[in-house]
Amino acid sequence: MSVKLGTYETVVSKLDIRQFSGHDVSNEIRRKILEAARQVGTGLNSQHLRFVLIESKDMLQLLSEDSTSGGWISGANFAIMILTNSAYGFKMLDAGRALQNMQLVAWSEGVGSGLFTGVKEKKIRTDFNIPEELDIAVIIGFGYPSRKLTGMKKNRLSINNILYHQRYGNP
Ligand SMILES: Cc1cc2nc3c(=O)[nH]c(=O)nc-3n(C[C@H](O)[C@H](O)[C@H](O)COP(=O)(O)O)c2cc1C
Repeated sequence: MSVKLGTYETVVSKLDIRQFSGHDVSNEIRRKILEAARQVGTGLNSQHLRFVLIESKDMLQLLSEDSTSGGWISGANFAIMILTNSAYGFKMLDAGRALQNMQLVAWSEGVGSGLFTGVKEKKIRTDFNIPEELDIAVIIGFGYPSRKLTGMKKNRLSINNILYHQRYGNP
C-alpha cells in the first residue's frame, strides 16, 4: 500500500481502527512510527516516556487477554505501550502527544491504529515486566485496515458547538 497524505489531510481523515488485515507493516514504516515517538516534546524536556514494542503473535494475544477494553489488539500487526513516570503532573499530556505523533505518522503511510487504556493492572505488569515507578498510559495497535475506509465519516460536533469568540460563551 502506498498512500501518502499531507499533514492536514492526515489529521482530518484519521480514524481509529480496530480491525486489521494480515498484511505486514514494513520495518521502514515501523521505524518511522517509533521515531515519531522518540521525537515527541515532553514537559520540561523531561523525556520520561518509555515504549514497549510488542510484535509477536503470542505477546499480542497476551496483551489482548490483559486488556479490559482492547481485546481487538490480538489482530494488530504490532503494538506499542506508552509508559509514563508518575513524578510528572503533565505526564498524560506527554503521552497523548506521543500517541498522536505515532498515529498520525502511521495514518499518513496508510497504516491504521487504535488504542485502549483499560488493563488488568496487576497481570499486565507481571506479563510485560513493567516496573512500579512507571504507569501504563495507553496501548496502541497498528496494522493495515481490514477494509477500505473511503467515504467513512467522523462523528464529531460542529465547530459552532465547541468554539467561542474572545470569551467563553460568545458565539
Ligand atoms: C483517552 C482515550 C481512551 C480510549 N480508550 C479506548 C479503549 O479503551 N478501547 C478502544 O477500543 N478505544 C478507545 N479509545 C478510542 C476512541 O473510542 C476513539 O478515539 C473515538 O471513538 C474516535 O474514533 P474515530 O476517530 O475513529 O471517530 C480511546 C480514545 C481516547 C482518546
